Amino acid sequence: MIKIGIFGAGRGVDIAKNLMLLDCEIVALCDFNEKRRNEGLEKLGIDVAVFENFDDFIEQEMDAVVLANYFHEHTPYAIKCFEKGIHVFCECISNGTMAEGVELIRAYEKSNSIYMLAENYPQMIFNREMKRVCDGGSLGKILYAEGEYNHPVQPDDHEFNKAAVYFTDHWRNFLPRSYYLTHSLAPLMWSTGATPKRVSATPVYAPFKENVTARRVGDRAAIITTVNDDDSVFRVTGCAAFGAHHNAYRICGEKGQIENLRGMGDKIMLRYNDWHIPEGKEEINLYEPKWNDNDEEFIEKSGHGGGDYIIARMFLDCIRKGGEPEHPYDIYSAVAMASTAILAHRSILNGGMPYDIPDFRLEECRKEYENDRQTPFCGTDGSKPNIPCCSNPDYSPTEEQIRKMAEILES
Ligand SMILES: NC(=O)c1ccc[n+]([C@@H]2O[C@H](COP(=O)([O-])OP(=O)(O)OC[C@H]3O[C@@H](n4cnc5c(N)ncnc54)[C@H](O)[C@@H]3O)[C@@H](O)[C@H]2O)c1
Repeated sequence: MIKIGIFGAGRGVDIAKNLMLLDCEIVALCDFNEKRRNEGLEKLGIDVAVFENFDDFIEQEMDAVVLANYFHEHTPYAIKCFEKGIHVFCECISNGTMAEGVELIRAYEKSNSIYMLAENYPQMIFNREMKRVCDGGSLGKILYAEGEYNHPVQPDDHEFNKAAVYFTDHWRNFLPRSYYLTHSLAPLMWSTGATPKRVSATPVYAPFKENVTARRVGDRAAIITTVNDDDSVFRVTGCAAFGAHHNAYRICGEKGQIENLRGMGDKIMLRYNDWHIPEGKEEINLYEPKWNDNDEEFIEKSGHGGGDYIIARMFLDCIRKGGEPEHPYDIYSAVAMASTAILAHRSILNGGMPYDIPDFRLEECRKEYENDRQTPFCGTDGSKPNIPCCSNPDYSPTEEQIRKMAEILES
């Protein structure tokens, strides 16, 4: 049985529960926050060894580790796993700085570990349907696609704040809108096979007016444009907060287009030019896609529209069959997405200037970025941000607003 350790008791436990449906043994849980560790253990519902410290945790006998610690601090732990030949299932983002992207790939190339980005949105039912249609070829060459991960949060929802943004220097309070990119970008990469080569971005700046907030980012979205290795263009949002909640994707080819309809559940709209209608299709096709999967019973019960179960199954398949995950779950695609996220923010801070996405397979690109440690986040080691997290570098909530939020979080 595959033995797995879980690092981070929040999201990590959700992932563990899906892995447990797939005949694995969860052997250890590591989290240095006692309250969250105990909550995680209870949710997990099994007896496992618990640790506060990663270096003790990693000494357990295990085949793979789930990295679900703070968003921007996955890389050093992935490297420690590589050094021990342990496989890595890593939450997004793969690396928090450009230099870490170089380090991650260098360490991976010296190891025998499998690395998979734990990105679940491409496996939602409508995204699977879009890939099926793109692969079928009826849309022709893909020219353009859009991806929106739009997740507005009620600012005074203090239950959410206490659960997800539970101290004022938490990464979610410093998260530039472009950084949480994989949920909008990865589904497009998966369906079309393209990888971004160049990026530029524009912010939607509209600071929060609340009396109580510790959110240092006054932007509601990053509108990111990429030019890709097949000459197609994507427009993606990172994590946006405009209009009403949705995850929306649209892929346009030379012959037609496919999209999921905002606010209409999982419904798909597939349309063709009237001179390109394939046999057996109409010009306008509106339908509910089907899973067509033997594990439908588990998928239906799993989080994020079934995506959580499917990516857990993909990871275990890689381990059992001994292969790397497919694009864009592999380490090079994961790091390309991280570079897109980081350089999109840099573009925002520089008036929309475009940046080339480096190919870290190439030594000259590694050299260019190996010392690039710009970060908008506070580190667990006490380090402070060295670039602004907001498009307006002068924006910040007042100390009084932050103090009030701290009081609420402690209450
Ligand atoms: N794919 C998805 O749908 C999805 C959903 C939620 C979160 N996530 C990702 O999962 C990751 C974790 O998210 P979360 O919401 O649980 O975040 P979080 O910040 O709430 O939790 C991280 C956990 O890791 C622990 N931790 C951090 N550093 C540690 C260290 N050095 N040693 C021991 N414990 C440590 C913290 O105490 C905390 O419990 C993030 O990368 C996030 O982006 C993905």
